Amino acid sequence: MPTLELRTGAAATGRAAASRLPSGKVVFVDDAAPDEVVEAEILEERASFARARLVRVVQASPHRRRPFCPLFGSCGGCVWQHFDYPRQLEEKRNLLTRAMQRSGFALEVGAVRRSPSEVQCRSRARLHADPEGGALGFFEEGTHRIQAVSTCPMLEPALSALLEPLRLHLGVLRSLEDLELNLASEGALVLAETEDDEPLDALARTLAALSGVAGVVLRGGQTEAGHGRRDGSQRVATQFGEYVVPVALGGFMQSNSGTNALLVGEILALVEEFGGAGGTVTELFCGSGNFTVPLARRGHRVDAGELAGPSVEALERAVAAQGLPVTVHRGDARRFKLPQSKVLLLDPPRTGALEICSALTNQTAPVVIYVSCDPWTLGRDSAVLATRGYKLARLQAFDMFPQTAHVETVAVFVG
Ligand SMILES: C[S@@+](CC[C@H](N)C(=O)[O-])C[C@H]1O[C@@H](n2cnc3c(N)ncnc32)[C@H](O)[C@@H]1O
Repeated sequence: MPTLELRTGAAATGRAAASRLPSGKVVFVDDAAPDEVVEAEILEERASFARARLVRVVQASPHRRRPFCPLFGSCGGCVWQHFDYPRQLEEKRNLLTRAMQRSGFALEVGAVRRSPSEVQCRSRARLHADPEGGALGFFEEGTHRIQAVSTCPMLEPALSALLEPLRLHLGVLRSLEDLELNLASEGALVLAETEDDEPLDALARTLAALSGVAGVVLRGGQTEAGHGRRDGSQRVATQFGEYVVPVALGGFMQSNSGTNALLVGEILALVEEFGGAGGTVTELFCGSGNFTVPLARRGHRVDAGELAGPSVEALERAVAAQGLPVTVHRGDARRFKLPQSKVLLLDPPRTGALEICSALTNQTAPVVIYVSCDPWTLGRDSAVLATRGYKLARLQAFDMFPQTAHVETVAVFVG
């Protein structure tokens, strides 16, 4: 295939930067950084875009840098390592601006709040095992092939140090599927899923005795074995104080505890600014209480809804232990009958909260605080809220996932 010279613009969500072919069609150049001149070979041309391979960097972006992880290019985990952190934040700001503008909001998003650390910051990981069960790792970019990982520079060191010991011990299983790790204050919580039913109990005991492990659950084909803790706690320190929030094995947890503390602080400040001190809050998609516990400790009464059993149970235990003014409702948020409160806090999964937003009015919820991990579904749902009479009053993005295209956003709507 002939090559051609291209100037790149924005970074794509994968390990590529976008450019345009002479015809005007968008082309994604793998391994290119934003803002550079490259020689590229077209690999594939489809109706609406093309893909190209980097042959040579002609004029490097001032933001280009050497990736710090030796697995960059094969592991699909951290695809933006080849340009610097300030540029990553700028790309996320632009991505969110584009998503909001596409949904009809003529605004320029402000600076993304940086992660306190751009490496060794992930306090949670989901790993996969290869079909023979010999390797643990992350998926290669865009595939379900496993890239074996024995240490990871993005994981908090206490989790990274466990990867190899866990792999060695779990090797006695004939099959191993997924492995979930969460770092709680007491140590790591380990959840492994396998088809096997033996030797689960003895293995769970061995893993729970590893240094740095607080609890283990092994889920087999028919049975389950656990040793140590099934939930732990995370100390979230914000400018408003320190909160002990439950971490549930098998439930959702924010993955970067440093950025999470900033996010929790922002939610506390916004609830007080828009809802007043000590008011009631309705919270949907509450997980195991990342926002619920701090809000309740700040004097708010919270009605909190969540679907996942392990998260609900961990939150109920924390509410009882800490004597918090929280009612936990287990069920589908879309079927939840909203109690009267001034503030509705939403933190849905990537798919967003379209059905809920479509049914809101300023009578049911005068203030909506929406935490989003996907700019495109946030844009879509914001446009729906605008048709329901809400005005966008605040928008702030956070970096929960350095070295990737993911961006976390908090938006406030006032009816
Ligand atoms: C992005 S997480 C946020 C959790 C929590 N706010 C936090 O910060 O840790 C989304 C949560 O929504 C829950 N969830 C997903 N679909 C749901 C549904 N239909 N109804 C209620 N909860 C749901 C998930 O189990 C998960 O805990």
